[in-house]
Amino acid sequence: MSAAAPVVEVDGIVTRFGANTVHDGVSFAVERGTLVALIGGSGTGKSVLLREIIGLLRPTAGRVRLLGTDVWAAGEAELRALRQRFGMMFQDGALFSSLTVAQNVAVPLREHTRLSEATIDALVALRLRQAGLPPDAGAKMPSELSGGMRKRAAVARAIALEPEVLFLDEPTSGLDPITARGFDRLVRSLVDDLGVTVLLVTSRAGACSLTAPCAT
Ligand SMILES: Nc1ncnc2c1ncn2[C@@H]1O[C@H](COP(=O)(O)OP(=O)(O)OP(=O)(O)O)[C@@H](O)[C@H]1O
Ligand SMILES: [Mg+2]
Repeated sequence: MSAAAPVVEVDGIVTRFGANTVHDGVSFAVERGTLVALIGGSGTGKSVLLREIIGLLRPTAGRVRLLGTDVWAAGEAELRALRQRFGMMFQDGALFSSLTVAQNVAVPLREHTRLSEATIDALVALRLRQAGLPPDAGAKMPSELSGGMRKRAAVARAIALEPEVLFLDEPTSGLDPITARGFDRLVRSLVDDLGVTVLLVTSRAGACSLTAPCAT
């Protein structure tokens, strides 16, 4: 893949569930190092589109290229390699409720690497810090965290493997405006400071991180 190739290319996506046509020829591209937000009302197909991009749900028609891989034509080995290069924060956070926050963040590291326990511990601490959580958050269970902290924990897990691309599904829904603004800043800093490419979907009008830094 050339350096100029988009990180995400969605081409002519059609999605139908029975008689319900959710997407009818959706095409767009996300360039490396950018933050792109797709805004749309509830039920317009944002979550479905993200699932199609990361290889969880096959579109009815159309093509998805992610980091140069044709997602729906790739073999299992290629997809496995691809999964190490992107992170996904699901709409519901999807933390494992029986694991501590630190154990949650360690899951991708244990699944995809053979790092020592000490290295995993150090990386987990780094990810928690990058996601803006205090060090003691790692020992807590997800149920012991506030909604905003749970979102940050989900981000810490999504960036565990230092992904090139991060997909965020409604990252600030359910947060109060102040917490949401802090979260917007976190996402902006992932792009500006770590060089992550971010594609987020939201139904929140006026999300301030989208095109400009938040006014404080
Ligand atoms: N597995 C499925 N089977 C059938 N229909 C589905 C399935 N998943 C989603 N849909 C339908 O696809 C449409 C889009 O759903 P989706 O979850 O992508 O919406 P959304 O834009 O993410 O909404 P929200 O803002 O509420 O999260 C809805 O009409 C939904 O009912
Ligand atoms: Mg959704």
